[in-house]
Amino acid sequence: MLGGGQSSEHEVSLASAASIRDGLQAAGHEPVAIEVGRDGVWRLDGRELALVPGRGFENVDVVFPALHGPFGEDGTVQGLLECLDVPYVGAGVLASALCMDKVTFKELMSHADMPQVDYQAARVEELSSGRQAVLARVGRLGLPVFVKPARLGSSVGIARVNEQAELLPALEGAFAHDPLALVEAAASGLEVECSVIGNGDPIASQPGEILLGGGESGWYDYEAKYSPGGMRLIVPARVRSHVSERIRELAIATYKLVGCSGLARVDFFVEGERVLVNELNTMPGFTSTSVFASLFDASGLRYTELLERLLELAVERHETERRFRH
Ligand SMILES: Nc1ncnc2c1ncn2[C@@H]1O[C@H](COP(=O)(O)OP(=O)(O)O)[C@@H](O)[C@H]1O
Ligand SMILES: [Mg+2]
Repeated sequence: MLGGGQSSEHEVSLASAASIRDGLQAAGHEPVAIEVGRDGVWRLDGRELALVPGRGFENVDVVFPALHGPFGEDGTVQGLLECLDVPYVGAGVLASALCMDKVTFKELMSHADMPQVDYQAARVEELSSGRQAVLARVGRLGLPVFVKPARLGSSVGIARVNEQAELLPALEGAFAHDPLALVEAAASGLEVECSVIGNGDPIASQPGEILLGGGESGWYDYEAKYSPGGMRLIVPARVRSHVSERIRELAIATYKLVGCSGLARVDFFVEGERVLVNELNTMPGFTSTSVFASLFDASGLRYTELLERLLELAVERHETERRFRH
């Protein structure tokens, strides 16, 4: 497995990788733990790795890139693994990159008439060249809104804006992370998440509900995600059965639309009967107690079985892709 990485989710990724290593070992595999440093260097027991394109990777059968966020979940590492010609778990280059970019993801969803909150995109250049125009455009969404950098995760750089005067500072805050920002109308209701695995014919877990622990912000921010007691997962989500079915259908439809493979966690806002897709994470947190694993566990698929299945899917995908002529 690959763990660590250059994003702010370095520690979370190390926790995912440690769980995966234990799970694979328990299932009789011989995991090789590679740590990707914050400096971007890949190390195996302290030895810096040199990679040769086309020559596989340290003689492993499959790579599990348990990396989250930029330089891990965004297609960059996936492209490198393609060049090495080694099977790897999870989405390929395009699906990874497209789900990392919240604006591109929303545009594709909108093109396919998938239900989601209203949004506007803003570019950093617009703050100097057309500030009033961008504020007016974003203002059409009303208040409150959520302002997000296009390509981050773990709620980093996201602000909830309740008053007009907070909009500009929130945009500037997002632009500290990315030249492109997404502004979204605020959804109300529940946050519900659904795990999916598969290649051509994916399956969805039971949906689970995120219950916040009463942190200050009132939304699922970094603190709620990673501090003890910040959130509680309720499985199954407390929604009516046809709403639950709708969530699972939409999770699979979103997965197929973006061309995912291996695994993903699809996150929703549920306002009564209305189900809105929020985002799709191509490499969600993957410890044995993560939301992703807990949802499948509640659906009858244990952590080690999940790992085994993901390895099979990785090999299957690699074989299929290599059969095409270029
Ligand atoms: N449009 C929205 N309406 C209501 N809450 C939102 C909205 N967008 C984001 N949030 C809150 O912010 C959290 C993080 O946003 P999200 O888009 O999922 O970013 P990340 O990729 O960092 O997880 C969500 O889980 C939710 O609590
Ligand atoms: Mg999220």
